[in-house]
Amino acid sequence: MPSDTTDFPADFVWGAATAAYQIEGAVRADGRGESVWDRFAATPGKVRSGDTGEIACDFYHRYPEDIALMRKLGLDAFRFSVSWPRVFPQGRAPLNQAGLDFYDRLVDELLAAGIEPFATLFHWDTPQPLEDAGGWPMRATAEAFVQYTEAVVARLGDRVRHWTTHNEPGVVSSHGYGLGVHAPGRADDADAVAAAHHLLLSHGWAVEAIRRLAPAASVGLALDLAQPYPASDSPEDLAAAWQIDGEGNRWFLDPLFRAVYPDDQQERIALVERVIRDGDLATIAAPSDFLGVNSYRRLLVAAGNGRPRILRPAGRYTTMDWEVYPDSLHRLLVRLADDYAPLAIYVTENGAAFGDVRGHDGEVHDLERTAYIRDHLDAIRRAIADGVPVKGYFVWSLLDNFEWGYGYSQRFGLVYIDYPTLERVPKDSFRAYRDFIADHRAGSDPTTELGELRSKSGA
Ligand code: FCB
Repeated sequence: MPSDTTDFPADFVWGAATAAYQIEGAVRADGRGESVWDRFAATPGKVRSGDTGEIACDFYHRYPEDIALMRKLGLDAFRFSVSWPRVFPQGRAPLNQAGLDFYDRLVDELLAAGIEPFATLFHWDTPQPLEDAGGWPMRATAEAFVQYTEAVVARLGDRVRHWTTHNEPGVVSSHGYGLGVHAPGRADDADAVAAAHHLLLSHGWAVEAIRRLAPAASVGLALDLAQPYPASDSPEDLAAAWQIDGEGNRWFLDPLFRAVYPDDQQERIALVERVIRDGDLATIAAPSDFLGVNSYRRLLVAAGNGRPRILRPAGRYTTMDWEVYPDSLHRLLVRLADDYAPLAIYVTENGAAFGDVRGHDGEVHDLERTAYIRDHLDAIRRAIADGVPVKGYFVWSLLDNFEWGYGYSQRFGLVYIDYPTLERVPKDSFRAYRDFIADHRAGSDPTTELGELRSKSGA
C-alpha cells in the first residue's frame, strides 16, 4: 500500500472490526438465547439464499486462531461486539455466566497478544424476548440495555478501556423497523422513529453507567454516516441533499452533540414527540469521549418527485453497489469536526465487498480492496492534516462474514473464509494492510532500527 504514512500520529490506532452475530456462530452454545437475527434469518425469504449466522466463521471456537492472524497483521486494536443474548438469554436477568465467560476469555487472549479490545455493546442482536415485548420502540428495551451494560462492564471494565454503546442506531431504526429489510423486519415509520429515540436514550444512560463502573474508560457510539453531495447547485438539489443529510446524519448527530432534533425534519419531529420525555435530550447529549464513524461511500442526491433521489453516477462500485469515492470520507470528517467538534474520532468501519475468488495458487488477489483501503487511508491522512482529530482506523472487516440480509454473498474480509471448511486464507489486502501498518510504525517510531535509520538520514 504505497501511500504516505508520515502524517499519521505515532499513537494512531490501527484496527479491524467485526460483530458478534456476523462471525461467532455457536448460536446455541453455553446457554445463549435467541436473538432477533436468529429469528429473522430462519424466516424464509428474509436473507439471501436462506443463510443464517448458525455457524458463520465459528469465531466462538476459533478465536485463538483469529487472534494469531491479528498478530500477524500487527493490529493495535480489535473491534468486536458482545452478544446480548449470550449474556442475558431473556434480555434481562437472570445472567448467563457462561456467555459472559466467552468475552472474558476473548479479552484476556487479546491483551496477551498485545491487542487492545474495543468492545461494542450492541451490534443489532436484540434478545428475541425483548422484541416479543415490543422491541426498541418501547422504552423498556432501553432500560434493559442499561442492565445489560452494567453486567458486561462490571465483568470486563477492568480490562476493556474502549466502549462503544451502539453500532449504527440509524440502520437498526430504518432497516429493522422502518423498511423491514433487517431484523426484526417491521415496517412502520412511527416505530422506526421511536426505536431511534430509545437507542439514543439508552446510549446516554449507558455512558453514565460505564463512567460509574469504569471511570477511566473511553466511551462513544458508532454512527453510519455518508456525505450527501448535491447533484448540482440548484436550490432543489441542495435542498434534497440537505434532506438526506437530515434523515441519515443530523437526526443522530444533532441530539448527541446539541441536545436537539433537527427542526427541518418536521415529519419525524411529530413522531418523536409521542415518545420523548423531559430530560431525554440532555441524557442523549451526555458528553462522550469519541465519535465512531462508519463510512463506506458517498451519496449523490438530486431532487425528485416529492422525495430526494439517490443517483447512481458512472464510477467504481463494490458488489454491494456502493460507489467507491474516497474523497467523501475526507469531506465527511472535516465537516464533522467543523459542525460538531467531537473530542476524537475513530473510523470504526470502512471497507469494501468484492467478488473474491481463490486463484489457482490458492491465494486471493484482491487488488480492488487494497486500493480501496489505501485511498481511504489517504483521505483520513488529509483530514488529519486539516486538523480533524482522527485517532484510529478499523477495516471492516477482519474476516469475510454474514452480511445481514445478503447472507454470505458479500465478502468484506482481509481474510477469506472458505465456508465449507472454515479455513482462513489471508488475502493480498491482508499483507498490504500489514505492510502499511509496519511502515507507519517504522516511520514514526525512532526507537525501531528502521525509524532510527530514517531519522538519521532525514528521510
Ligand atoms: C455496516 C455494519 C456492519 C457491516 C457493514 C458492511 O453498516 O455496521 O455490520 O455489515 O455495514
